[in-house]
Amino acid sequence: MSKAGFAATGFPALSWSLSVPLFSRDIKPAVQLKDLPHRLQLGRHMRSVGRLSAILGAALGLSPAECRRLGRAAALHDVGKLYVPAQLMDKCAALTPDEMATMQQHPRLGFVHLASIGPNMFARFAALIALEHHENWDGSGYPKGLVGEEIGLESRIVAVCDVYSALREARPYKAGMDHAAAMTEICDGASPQLLGKFDPRVVAALRTCEAAIDRAFAG
Ligand SMILES: [Fe+2]
Ligand SMILES: [Fe+2]
Repeated sequence: MSKAGFAATGFPALSWSLSVPLFSRDIKPAVQLKDLPHRLQLGRHMRSVGRLSAILGAALGLSPAECRRLGRAAALHDVGKLYVPAQLMDKCAALTPDEMATMQQHPRLGFVHLASIGPNMFARFAALIALEHHENWDGSGYPKGLVGEEIGLESRIVAVCDVYSALREARPYKAGMDHAAAMTEICDGASPQLLGKFDPRVVAALRTCEAAIDRAFAG
């Protein structure tokens, strides 16, 4: 689909300069056999975020059908990381500015990957979530620096579930937190880095369903 085609359907136009061609058939995921452990971990993370997002969506009043759709789309939120070298994802040292810039391409790459599937509503919905899941309520996120309700509600839900899941997961460079510690980070401002990043309404809803979230994370 052309850029004009996206705009005509109300879908966000691809207005940024992408460092890759538009369609996923032209860009190759950076998947190699030696990277399999990283990719399995990424798959577990994405499925976890899918489960959690469906639960949090229900707590915010989404219908069962909307929650199922959100869960399926949220499970694709990091698909753009398939285009990021695996060694960056688990690097123990801080990323260099260039590495960080590469990593921060993954929402756009995920959007392009999913949007290129074709003009179906689910692909568009999932692509928008992939694009927006690192946007922050206070405007400090990426790739666009959207603020507040400029970010779709579903993306704001996925953003909270993404961070909750990431905090709880063990990675080569960190231990996983327990549920209570992750909730304190997100809901009680224990981490200055997270202050103001989330929609307060979504955070309040997280508190109302936290037992289910904890169970769903465990799988
Ligand atoms: Fe991500
Ligand atoms: Fe993620």
